[in-house]
Amino acid sequence: MKAIIAVLPGDGIGPEVTAEAVQVLEAVGHRFGHRFQFGYGLLGGCAIDATGSPLPPETVLLCQGSDAVLLGAVGGPQWDDPMAAVRPEQGLLGIRKALGLYANLRPVKLAPALLHASTIKPETLAGVDLLVVRELTGGVYFGPRQEATPEDEVAYDTMLYSRPEIERVTRLAAQAARGRRGQLASVDKANVLASSRLWRRVVTELMRAEFPDVTLEHVLVDAMAMHLIRRPAAYDVVLAENLFGDILTDEASMLAGSMGLLPSASLGEELNPHGQPRGLYEPIHGSAPDIAGKGVANPLATILSAAMLLRHSLGLEAEAQAVEAAVDAVLAAGLRTPDIADGAVEVLGTAAMGAAVVRALDSALT
Ligand code: IPM
Ligand code: MG
Repeated sequence: MKAIIAVLPGDGIGPEVTAEAVQVLEAVGHRFGHRFQFGYGLLGGCAIDATGSPLPPETVLLCQGSDAVLLGAVGGPQWDDPMAAVRPEQGLLGIRKALGLYANLRPVKLAPALLHASTIKPETLAGVDLLVVRELTGGVYFGPRQEATPEDEVAYDTMLYSRPEIERVTRLAAQAARGRRGQLASVDKANVLASSRLWRRVVTELMRAEFPDVTLEHVLVDAMAMHLIRRPAAYDVVLAENLFGDILTDEASMLAGSMGLLPSASLGEELNPHGQPRGLYEPIHGSAPDIAGKGVANPLATILSAAMLLRHSLGLEAEAQAVEAAVDAVLAAGLRTPDIADGAVEVLGTAAMGAAVVRALDSALT
C-alpha cells in the first residue's frame, strides 16, 4: 500500500515523540512492504512564531490531502499569556473542527508489566480494558462564549449540543461496544444541565432503536470520576461529551500508570482514498515543557497512536497489532522511560525507547 501521512509535531516534547513514531511507521512500511510518505506541517505555538497563526491554512490543506494525520502536542509557557489573542490550543481545536473529527477514541488498557506502575492497587486494576469515546467538536469547547474585559469582569461559555451531534458519536461508540463486550456507559450531568438531559434522551432513544443488543447505563459524571478509580474494570465503552471526556481521560490515564502511555484516535465522517476515515492520531498527554528537549519523554503513547492510525485510517490490522505487541514486548523486558522507571530493568531516553520498539518489531517478524 501507498499512504500519505501528515505529521504535525507541534511544541515541547511533540517533535521528540513524533520522531519516534515516524521511525516505527517507517519500520512497519519496510517490513510489511508499504510506502508511507510523510509531509510535515506547523501547528500550535511553533506555527504562531512562524506565521502568526496557530493553524496556518497550509497545515489544513496538508491534512486534507493526506490519508491520516499524526500529531505530537501543542502549547508551552511562552504562549501562555491568558490575555493573548492567539493561543496554541486554538490550533488543535481548529484542526479537529476543520477535519470534522467528532469522535475521539481513547483506549485504556493496562500492559501486564505495568500493573505496579500505577498509584492504584493492582487488584483494583486487574482486567481494566476500557474505551472512552469523547465527543470532540461540540459542547462547551465550541459553544457561544464571552471573554471578560477589564471593564466588565463577567465571562461565560456555553455547553451546547444538538440531536445530530449526539446521535453520530453515540452510534460510533455503540458500534465500538458491539465489537467489544457489548456495554456502553453514557456520562452526563442530567440532574443539573439541560444539554445533558437532551444527551441522555437522545442516547436512550438511539440505543433502543438501533442497538438493542448493547447494554446501556447512564452515569453522572461526578459518580463516574469516582467509579473510574473504584471499579475501573467494570467498564467497557464510556461515552462522554467533550469536556467530561477530557477530564475523565486524564484520570483514566493514571490507571495505566502514566499519561505517556495512552494513545488516541479522532475520527469523522470523511473517508480517505483507502475507504477509511481520515483520522488524526495523537497521544493524550500535552507538550510537557518541563522536560522538552531533554530526550527523556515517553514516546510510547505516540507510537501506540501510530498503531491506531494503521488500524483505523489504513485498515492495516496486522501491522497495528505488530506495533502493539512490540510495545508490550519492550515493557515486558523491563525497558522503561523515566516516567515509569519504578522497577525498571533499564531506563531509556526517548530515542532509545523508539529504537527498542523497532528492534522488538523486527525480532517478532523474523
Ligand atoms: C486533550 C487536551 C486538549 C483538549 C487541550 C490541549 C486543548 O487536553 O487533547 O485532551 O482539551 O482537548
Ligand atoms: Mg485533555
